[in-house]
Amino acid sequence: MATTWMDAVVVARTAATANIAVLDLAPANGTDFPAYTAGAHIDVLLEHGGLIRQYSLCGPPGTGHYRLAVLNDPDSRGGSRAMHTLELGDRLRISAPRNRFPLAAARRHLLFAGGIGITPLLAMVSSLDAEGGDYTLHYSVRSRSDAAFVSELAENPRVAFHFDDEDPGQRLDVDSCLATPSPDTAVYVCGPGGFMDHVLARAEAAGWPPAALHKERFAASAPDPDGAETGAFTVRVASTGAEYQVPEDRSALDVLQENGIDAPSSCQQGICGECVVRVLAGEPDHRDDVLSPDEQADGLFAPCTSRARSRVLELDI
Ligand code: FES
Repeated sequence: MATTWMDAVVVARTAATANIAVLDLAPANGTDFPAYTAGAHIDVLLEHGGLIRQYSLCGPPGTGHYRLAVLNDPDSRGGSRAMHTLELGDRLRISAPRNRFPLAAARRHLLFAGGIGITPLLAMVSSLDAEGGDYTLHYSVRSRSDAAFVSELAENPRVAFHFDDEDPGQRLDVDSCLATPSPDTAVYVCGPGGFMDHVLARAEAAGWPPAALHKERFAASAPDPDGAETGAFTVRVASTGAEYQVPEDRSALDVLQENGIDAPSSCQQGICGECVVRVLAGEPDHRDDVLSPDEQADGLFAPCTSRARSRVLELDI
């Protein structure tokens, strides 16, 4: 099903840091935005539809507005630069919220934010505060001047700031934070790839089960250098029985869409979850950053990046 786009208008714009703009969006046509839960993101259509980018909703759920915080990243592929040109009153098109990073049903929550990865976790802090949840947020940033939302979080006793350029004693010690795996605690990680890989690797080394670890990436992780070669395979559409060859240099999603199959998509990088379908037969080779090990084991599959170990993969489309 294709994404349904909504018209939004920028109703507030502030600078959280020299490089981070906070944008409040409201409906442009009088209708209400759909509600969302903490951890959700939206797609934003930029450059006259030529770019689609995902941004986490960082404001407290339930305000009727959507709040985004956008880093003007020098390595941007164009999205953050375009977002930083938006001014008060500008209109843009956005998707309804999707949540691949929700709060888990846990008694305690351990949140790790690296830099701009604070955005979905800020919404989680709002929700947990509203419901009296038990949590600790570790917010790690290169320097205080790069940290968004410091004033909002400064008085919160559940928040620990870690600045790389300040006293070594306050730097993030992941091993001590994660020293004791606990069955009723959920761990959440969001930030740059290196930060996320480090926290997740230390959690795994400490014995945290994969099901306790929740992550959201802003960019696809680097391919595994020891991973198997990407080969060609065939996708079969279960509803029609039609088969399509997926060459080694194309994604299954591209091939399906080229052949007129109504396959939803957004990020094309295996990070948003929009394209996820169920595998009915065959052996997938999972190469996404969005599905949990349980979801993968349960037959879910991201055709934008993942491939097949078997010759044929039958998809529930
Ligand atoms: S399109 Fe985003 S995960 Fe596939």
